[in-house]
Amino acid sequence: MKKEPIDFIGCAGTILEALNRGIFMTTRANGKTDCMAIQWGTMGFLWGKSVFVCYVRESRFTREMLDANPEFTVNIPMGDYDRKIMAVCGGKSGRDVDKIAELGLTLVEGDKVSVPGISELPLTLECKVLYRQKQDVNLIPEDCRKMFYPRKSVPGTHDSEDDEHITFIGEILAAYRICNS
Ligand SMILES: Cc1cc2nc3c(=O)[nH]c(=O)nc-3n(C[C@H](O)[C@H](O)[C@H](O)COP(=O)(O)O)c2cc1C
Repeated sequence: MKKEPIDFIGCAGTILEALNRGIFMTTRANGKTDCMAIQWGTMGFLWGKSVFVCYVRESRFTREMLDANPEFTVNIPMGDYDRKIMAVCGGKSGRDVDKIAELGLTLVEGDKVSVPGISELPLTLECKVLYRQKQDVNLIPEDCRKMFYPRKSVPGTHDSEDDEHITFIGEILAAYRICNS
């Protein structure tokens, strides 16, 4: 499948608009590939490198995957896409199901990292983790702390809103659009 390089700075507006609606990050480790929805992220420059920063709660399977292989791709839909991808990747855990297989997603091997992109979510950033840091909830403003870290689990779901986020700063090693035709 063809990849068309993009200038991530030129595409920053598109990426951030999409992030505000929800985009995806993919990880691969121990023979598994997992994809989760993300809505928290930042993009810019640090230590002379281009970076994408994501915030992953400790309880996510994605966090375990990043511990095992500190690389990820950011996967951004362009235009209309199958909303089932959001429901599954944002609502189920890779610990319980193979989301890629359930959704029948098409993986496209990475150029610079061992994690693939996804052709159905064509705008792709390949990232290698440079730095990670667990957030100290005590330093978070009280209104945000109460809203996002309520210290009670969400009943009847695998999901947790109890645990801290870990900040993962990924160096952007490649940026492109996967062309389906
Ligand atoms: C729109 C949307 C945005 C989300 N953003 C984040 C996020 O930025 N960080 C996070 O840890 N979880 C986020 N989640 C929750 C995870 O996507 C969800 O818990 C997922 O099932 C985790 O998958 P995993 O266990 O396979 O890693 C979001 C969910 C949705 C629906």
